[in-house]
Amino acid sequence: MKSVEIKKDIYWVGAIDWDVRDFHGYSTYKGTTYNAYLILDDKITLIDTVKKEFKSELIHRIREIIPLEKIDYIVVNHVEMDHSGSLPEIIELVKPEKIFCSDMGKKALLAHFHREDWPYQVVKSNDTISLGKRSIKFIETRMLHWPDSMFSYVPEEALLFSNDAFGEHLASTERFDDELSIGELIRHAAKYYANIILLYSRLVKKQLENLEKLNLKIDMIAPDHGVVWRSHVKEILEAYHNWCNNKTEEKALVVYDTMWHSTEMMAKAICDGIEKEGVNVKVFNLEVNHHSDIMTEVLDARAIVLGSPTLNNGLLPTMAGFLNYMKGLKPGTKIGAAFGSYGWSGEAVKIMTQYMKDMKFNILEPGIRFQYVPTHAQLKECVEFGKRIGKAIKEGI
Ligand code: FEO
Repeated sequence: MKSVEIKKDIYWVGAIDWDVRDFHGYSTYKGTTYNAYLILDDKITLIDTVKKEFKSELIHRIREIIPLEKIDYIVVNHVEMDHSGSLPEIIELVKPEKIFCSDMGKKALLAHFHREDWPYQVVKSNDTISLGKRSIKFIETRMLHWPDSMFSYVPEEALLFSNDAFGEHLASTERFDDELSIGELIRHAAKYYANIILLYSRLVKKQLENLEKLNLKIDMIAPDHGVVWRSHVKEILEAYHNWCNNKTEEKALVVYDTMWHSTEMMAKAICDGIEKEGVNVKVFNLEVNHHSDIMTEVLDARAIVLGSPTLNNGLLPTMAGFLNYMKGLKPGTKIGAAFGSYGWSGEAVKIMTQYMKDMKFNILEPGIRFQYVPTHAQLKECVEFGKRIGKAIKEGI
């Protein structure tokens, strides 16, 4: 189990989780890593730990470099269990002089591990500690994505330990951004943003402005998941800038589920209409696509077109679940449209439209619905509806 030197005397000592496939509802089909870092200086410092089950990997990697008991400080940038689950056992072995965390971090550590006797040292934004040749400046990043979250910045190395921000769920033996395809990395980072960070876009925007104001030189970003950014720092910062500002493309998503293929027929006809306007369109059947993958596509889509038949005066459960998930993540303003087949009561279009209004979407009204199986003429109406959506994407509603 190899540790990796990311800068002179600074090592990645984390763990690779090749098997995890679900991260509370997010499909991590490429696994993930739990990154921890060791700084060798007068005060030897461990930045974050790993998920409880991966404690041995962390210990082996540290022991490859130094005996555990030589560690002086532990920095807890974030208390969520994927970074702190192994903390009690590591503290037992290390007996650190100090554990640095934010005020909310201390509260969260107490609420998780109930240990009043640990040597907490609460820090706030702009507090700096000396490690010897290097120092750490702390930057609180409340609600990115927990109240306790913070960054640790090492000015002498132009190195930002960013915790969850700028990470991806991606297991690999490669540790650096330039060892993998940048396109693939940005796609994984987009999925991470869309499913974990999106709700806090307003705070991301503030935090990016804050980093700019602090005028920090950043040569390297070391997050707690995925690769270390050293060659594409500019690209990941730019991507976050676009995502937090809801920068969209000329792109529509048609997301639907179907009972007896009628709503599916409508979905395909609407897709044809959008395509006829020269707009990029992707179709997602909720039966075969994971909601977290659809959310990744929502991130830069300009229009979301939802289709569900009416079931028991409501929506199909897949659509209800997807809408609940998307609404929780508060995507920025989009163009919204709804369609569906029905038998007798036909409430689905109205319900989907209301969900989208609640998300502050600009709705292309009225939505479109047909009883039972659409006729050829009705499918032509769907094509026309798609064309209206395509035009709205290009020209605005
Ligand atoms: Fe990777 Fe919020 O924990």
